[in-house]
Amino acid sequence: MQRQVISLPTESRQSEINIGYGIRRDLSQLVSRNFKQAPRRIGVISNKTVFKLYGKDLITALKSQSRDVLHWLIPDGERFKSFRIFEKAVSFLADNRFERNDVVVALGGGVVGDLAGLTASTYLRGIGLVQVPTSLLAQIDSSIGGKTAINLSSGKNMLGTFYQPHVVCIDTQTLDSLPARELVAGFCEMVKQSLVANQKLFDQTVALLKQFQLDQKTLATPDFERLITAHCMFKASIVANDERESADRTDSKSRRILNFGHTTAHALEKVTNYRWFRHGEAVGYGMLVAGELSKNLDLLDAADLESLREAVNLCGSLPRVEHIDVTEIIDALKFDKKSVQGQINWVLLDKVGSPKIVEGRLSSKRILRRSISDGLRASWRQKERSH
Ligand SMILES: NC(=O)c1ccc[n+]([C@@H]2O[C@H](COP(=O)([O-])OP(=O)(O)OC[C@H]3O[C@@H](n4cnc5c(N)ncnc54)[C@H](O)[C@@H]3O)[C@@H](O)[C@H]2O)c1
Repeated sequence: MQRQVISLPTESRQSEINIGYGIRRDLSQLVSRNFKQAPRRIGVISNKTVFKLYGKDLITALKSQSRDVLHWLIPDGERFKSFRIFEKAVSFLADNRFERNDVVVALGGGVVGDLAGLTASTYLRGIGLVQVPTSLLAQIDSSIGGKTAINLSSGKNMLGTFYQPHVVCIDTQTLDSLPARELVAGFCEMVKQSLVANQKLFDQTVALLKQFQLDQKTLATPDFERLITAHCMFKASIVANDERESADRTDSKSRRILNFGHTTAHALEKVTNYRWFRHGEAVGYGMLVAGELSKNLDLLDAADLESLREAVNLCGSLPRVEHIDVTEIIDALKFDKKSVQGQINWVLLDKVGSPKIVEGRLSSKRILRRSISDGLRASWRQKERSH
């Protein structure tokens, strides 16, 4: 399949999203096409794991664009999306005298993308930014839409900016080396995105997941590239229409709907000190809980809830949750960063492809508790059934 190009127009900038198998080797053309003035310096920010795999290719490709291609690596892990590492990243640019027309290339998963994005958006009040996402989650979600962040001791993603990358280069070939658990997490995010998008994207996603169970080489097929492209187009359409995630929008096209499954996911991550789940895995459980809650509030019918459960199950196995106390989860929900005036706002479903933002007080404590217990158990029940 040839390279697919999606144009993402926002108030702040026009971003170009490129998708294709092996396209990291064309990065230099993508850079020269999207920056009026050729950058004098390019700084690749990555982590040790990903750079070892793809750094050399990327540096070789970029050297035809700029003589000065430098790189700077962070250790691998969410805990390095920190203020201390952010300061070091900025110093890397400053010490090497990067200027306004120079460019940062973020090579890696969502952690690298968020940190490098924040660095590029704040250094000299903003320099060029190219995202080269290498995890599935980053390819369909975090590299698109311009959210950048680091974590503070008070919570995840507490410090950040909205800063659209000039170019996104999604090379699906890099998924060949992605560890199985990261794929499961990415699949969960795909299911989430398709559930709030439309029935067609949901069906396409479920079909791909079924195909993947039969043959892991599915990720190298044109069908998979088409699916990634469809996901990116959907995410781009939401971002183009609500770039800064307006807190007062509650319609089904607002950026907030992308938080489906995230209310419980954040609570699960918090009560397990961010050590038990990959973020996407927690979203897997979060969708099951949001599905139960939607059904218990008479929004979602039983057949659609069953489709949701089946889709989450197809993503692969999720970490055990029997040891997690439901009361602790409910307490943690109160600290959700996305709550408005102290009220949790749930993203629920009317049906597949029809999200709805619902105020937390519409559900009684009893319904909430039952939805959480049933949602957490649903994953295990499915596994028992399929054995
Ligand atoms: N900015 C946004 O809009 C947005 C959206 C969703 C999530 N996020 C953030 O993204 C982060 C999660 O991203 P993630 O799931 O990509 O995690 P990650 O960046 O930690 O990557 C997951 C793991 O996979 C490795 N990896 C990545 N690509 C690889 C490849 N091709 N081959 C082998 N190993 C590879 C990484 O080194 C890491 O160990 C979180 O910090 C989350 O807050 C941001």
